Amino acid sequence: MQETGAQSIYFAPLEGITGYIFRNAYNEIYGNVDKYFAPFISPTGRSSMTPRDRRDLDPDNNTGMNLIPQILTCDASLFIMAAGELQDMGYKEIDLNLGCPSGTVCAKGKGAGFLPETAKLRSFLDGIYAFSENAGIKISVKTRLGYYDPEEFFDLIEIFNAYPISELIVHPRIRGDFYKGEIRREYFAYAIEHAVCPLIYNGDIYTPQDLEDLSSYFKTPLSPVMLGRGLITDPSLASKIKGISKDTDMARFKEFHDTIYHEYQKVMSPDINVLYKMKELWSYWSSMFSDNSRDIKKLLKAKKYADYESCVYSLLGHL
Ligand SMILES: Cc1cc2nc3c(=O)[nH]c(=O)nc-3n(C[C@H](O)[C@H](O)[C@H](O)COP(=O)(O)O)c2cc1C
Repeated sequence: MQETGAQSIYFAPLEGITGYIFRNAYNEIYGNVDKYFAPFISPTGRSSMTPRDRRDLDPDNNTGMNLIPQILTCDASLFIMAAGELQDMGYKEIDLNLGCPSGTVCAKGKGAGFLPETAKLRSFLDGIYAFSENAGIKISVKTRLGYYDPEEFFDLIEIFNAYPISELIVHPRIRGDFYKGEIRREYFAYAIEHAVCPLIYNGDIYTPQDLEDLSSYFKTPLSPVMLGRGLITDPSLASKIKGISKDTDMARFKEFHDTIYHEYQKVMSPDINVLYKMKELWSYWSSMFSDNSRDIKKLLKAKKYADYESCVYSLLGHL
């Protein structure tokens, strides 16, 4: 755990949400994030990434931010192929996804589905860390505690300790928890005691108080810390945690909303596709507007820009 005075904040990857349009709007309007993690790419025998992934990771679409691409695979040669391409694009640090709980991903032995395959995991890590040392690139790991049982974590930490992992990001849940239920804090406490690489906490931080409570439970400052849904639900959370702002500034939120909405309109059509993306965000933002549940309900039903905009207008004022 890094013990510096200044709080460092990482933005967790959320597939379908924190793509480059969201990241750029966030970075310009809110900032105060030290590293952004891109949603995973999943290389195949044919290619490292889809055209959409390539656009998302294109350095020209991600200027002025520290972006870490993430790879989801259980095949070392596919990881190395994709990492080599990312290195050619200018990336010096790459994250390995060992946490994705999705059924289709886990059924292929990827994400959290890789965690119980410890012999295979060791030889995979042998391969990718041999590559990283040669290529001069850093590899971090984002993991859960285990697949079936949190006690798997004891073996996993021992495995991870054998590699030069640049940062070990732990979401203290098992696969079957998905993103719900109590955080299994005692296992992160075990990692604080036993992990040899820099350790990053991730999970269920929605307020500065949540972070303070966890830091006092762990008896250590959690810096860097990785935030996901909390930063989407309240985009000013990073500046609140850093002591830069106290309140949620609605004018700023409106600018954030409008930027994302207009940028999606430039690259997507028809209305319904843009509105699908916006509604996904409103499923997080709606908690800021609990007194306006009628408008939120109407907004979530909108099929045309005009209907959507009239709901947003009533919540936030003119677009
Ligand atoms: C919709 C959604 C998409 C996600 N996509 C990714 C992903 O692409 N890669 C990844 O490592 N984690 C992904 N996650 C997990 C988050 O990065 C994070 O670990 C999780 O939300 C817990 O942190 P939080 O409580 O701060 O949100 C996703 C989570 C959600 C809810």
